[in-house]
Amino acid sequence: MQALTHLLLLCCVLVGVNCFEPRIVGGRQVQNREDFAYQVSLRFSKMHFCGGVILDSRNVLTAAHCVYNLPTLKYLEVFVGDLNVRSISNNTVSVRVTNATIHEHFEDRLLLNDICILKLEKDLEFSSTVKSVPLWTLNDTFEDDLRCNVSGWGTTEYKGNSSNNLLYLELPLIERKNCSKYYGNAIDPGMVCAGFEEAGKDSCEGDSGGPLVCENKLMGLVSWGFQCARAMHPGVYTDVREYSDWIKKHQHSSTSKHLGFSWLMVLLIALLEL
Ligand SMILES: *[C@@H]1O[C@H](CO)[C@@H](O)[C@H](O)[C@H]1NC(C)=O
Ligand SMILES: *[C@@H]1O[C@H](CO)[C@@H](O)[C@H](O)[C@H]1NC(C)=O
Ligand SMILES: *[C@@H]1O[C@H](CO)[C@@H](O)[C@H](O)[C@H]1NC(C)=O
Ligand SMILES: *[C@@H]1O[C@H](CO)[C@@H](O)[C@H](O)[C@H]1NC(C)=O
Ligand SMILES: *[C@@H]1O[C@H](CO)[C@@H](O)[C@H](O)[C@H]1NC(C)=O
Ligand SMILES: *[C@@H]1O[C@H](CO)[C@@H](O)[C@H](O)[C@H]1NC(C)=O
Repeated sequence: MQALTHLLLLCCVLVGVNCFEPRIVGGRQVQNREDFAYQVSLRFSKMHFCGGVILDSRNVLTAAHCVYNLPTLKYLEVFVGDLNVRSISNNTVSVRVTNATIHEHFEDRLLLNDICILKLEKDLEFSSTVKSVPLWTLNDTFEDDLRCNVSGWGTTEYKGNSSNNLLYLELPLIERKNCSKYYGNAIDPGMVCAGFEEAGKDSCEGDSGGPLVCENKLMGLVSWGFQCARAMHPGVYTDVREYSDWIKKHQHSSTSKHLGFSWLMVLLIALLEL
């Protein structure tokens, strides 16, 4: 059964996203997991295949293209707190996924609305290495030379090997209108770019769904690009600013919120009975 699901996953990866798929090229190894405490590894049958971001203790954001063709959620787990993607340490925490809300207008060929919320089976316990990250909204403004970090365990070159250790790359944001110069009208309003004109530095395969964070707030999710780290082809990210309302609407409430609510009810009932 495991072999079969591995094979299925391999087929999704090969057929589903072919060469338009990102990973970290030209990056550095993360020394301190605390600096990227919001980063998660999505694993299917224990195999890393995509990144993701901790939205709150119950919800993880990722790219829709990461999960839309998974055969089942049964073998899907979110791993947090750890630097190495192939070994289990004392810091490793994993939690199962009970629901995946893919954007209703996700389009898998052009990767439109490439966003998905995963509901965790139980709340994550936050610590110095496990934390959520706030989101940019359309109301926030920034200077033209905004710099960001993208991170992940993806491959270190196009069709190369993936990294065991979490890597990051610092790169400038390229606003949508400037990015059309590289990709024409493939750049949808729900997308933003980041990267360089020259070759050598980019996100790559296996980084998909992972965070693009600028000034400690989430700007994007790794979505696509033409191969990886090619000149004149920066990485394209799902622009989370465009999905603030969608995220708020589809975010599942956490256990603690339920608890707060039920305590309030108990109190109310107690008061009414007096
Ligand atoms: C993990 O925890 C155990 C027990 O607390 C300890 O003996 C061991 O050295 C720890 N391993 C690492 C790699 O920190
Ligand atoms: C998943 O969440 C959505 C939106 O909250 C809900 O409509 C749907 O019924 C849930 N599916 C499962 C299997 O829990
Ligand atoms: C942006 O600001 C307007 C006006 O202050 C407010 O109504 C709206 O909710 C804000 N939007 C977001 C996404 O924060
Ligand atoms: C990227 O991460 C590194 C390592 O934590 C940090 O030193 C740097 O300031 C970050 N850059 C940005 C733009 O956030
Ligand atoms: C990937 O790793 C294998 C085994 O370590 C090595 O033989 C191969 O050359 C590597 N491929 C690339 C593209 O670096
Ligand atoms: C967009 O392009 C213009 C003209 O090349 C440049 O001045 C500006 O800094 C760019 N802005 C961003 C956010 O990339």
